[in-house]
Amino acid sequence: MKKIFIIVGTRPNFIKVAPLLIQLKNNKKYKTVLIHSGQHYDYYMSKVFFDELNINPPDHYLNIGSGSQGYQTAEIMKSIEVVLTENKPDLMIVVGDVNTTMAASIVAAKLYIKIAHIESGLRSYDKKMPEEINRIITDSISNYLFTHSRGADKNLISEGIPKDKIFFVGNIMIDTIINNLEKIQSREKYREFNLNRKDFILLTMHRPSNVDNEEVFRSIAGALEEIAKNMKIVFPIHPRTVKMAEKLNIKLSKIKNLKIINPLSYIDLLSMENDSRCIITDSGGIQEESTFLNVPCFTIRENTERPITIDIGSNILVGTKTKDIVSNVENCLNGNCKQGNIPELWDGSTSKRIIEVINHEI
Ligand code: UD1
Repeated sequence: MKKIFIIVGTRPNFIKVAPLLIQLKNNKKYKTVLIHSGQHYDYYMSKVFFDELNINPPDHYLNIGSGSQGYQTAEIMKSIEVVLTENKPDLMIVVGDVNTTMAASIVAAKLYIKIAHIESGLRSYDKKMPEEINRIITDSISNYLFTHSRGADKNLISEGIPKDKIFFVGNIMIDTIINNLEKIQSREKYREFNLNRKDFILLTMHRPSNVDNEEVFRSIAGALEEIAKNMKIVFPIHPRTVKMAEKLNIKLSKIKNLKIINPLSYIDLLSMENDSRCIITDSGGIQEESTFLNVPCFTIRENTERPITIDIGSNILVGTKTKDIVSNVENCLNGNCKQGNIPELWDGSTSKRIIEVINHEI
């Protein structure tokens, strides 16, 4: 029996592997082993996703925790090398663009273990983002590159990656939404905050480029203060943002109509996305989820590795300047919201297509 190892570490990783694990569950051809690096470890950043998405506890938990970019990457590499050397899997599956993804890929490549990268080919062309380095390195050493858009294929080809390694299979995060759609649509999480459907804005923000930089953080906070005069904003806050707001003495809790809450579980967050008037975010995953749900999304970044959400979906890149954020969001609140379409193969069957390729290739 062939051994497939799947490695996860952070919130978005758990969401991406859930449908794959469903596909592999009763597969007699493979033994599937799940490794969790422990990059995210708090209950509401990790275990709640396992519980809600019915993911079995990991077979190996590496307990890495937080640290600087280099420290965290090195710790993951050290621990995962032990597990991979002992077990010698036939294939290692990595997802997304986090430190866990790159660290595991480097170790596997040096042990001659074949690597499948899901969500390959995304590029922001901004090497100041740690994720961009993770994407480029992971793609350059992967054997099977699974993409979610034709644009991603083009990026890989332009970097000299042979076409026969690239498989356009669609967006696996959409499988997770579709598998949970009834729960998402019936959860009505907004009621807990005494809100009405489509009468609030959902905000998420955690990128180092936004929250580790005082000028940018203050500029965004200024926009939130302005926007909140017209509509309530709900903000499930990431621990990095809590830490940086304290350090920079930015008093988000003083903004009237901005409700700060703990990070939400998957179904709760998707319920809030689905029922919001619009979303302000710097998350990659939320740009895609809002496109699928056709909820207007304002991305507070200078670039995005997910341009398909702008070209086809309901996303608008608004940058981080106060006036640009305010004018775009208010335009929507005044009734001129962007409508989008769903991209090709964002249809709920991506995990199935990935397993078909794996069956054929290994
Ligand atoms: C990481 C990913 C980012 C992804 C995000 C999803 C990298 C380079 N970045 O960013 O791409 O969008 O996850 O959330 O891999 N912390 C806790 N509890 C936890 C986890 C983190 O308190 O369970 C705090 C720690 O103070 C830590 C900080 O959050 O230092 C940042 O965590 P880290 O995993 O380093 O990066 P993220 O910002 O979460």
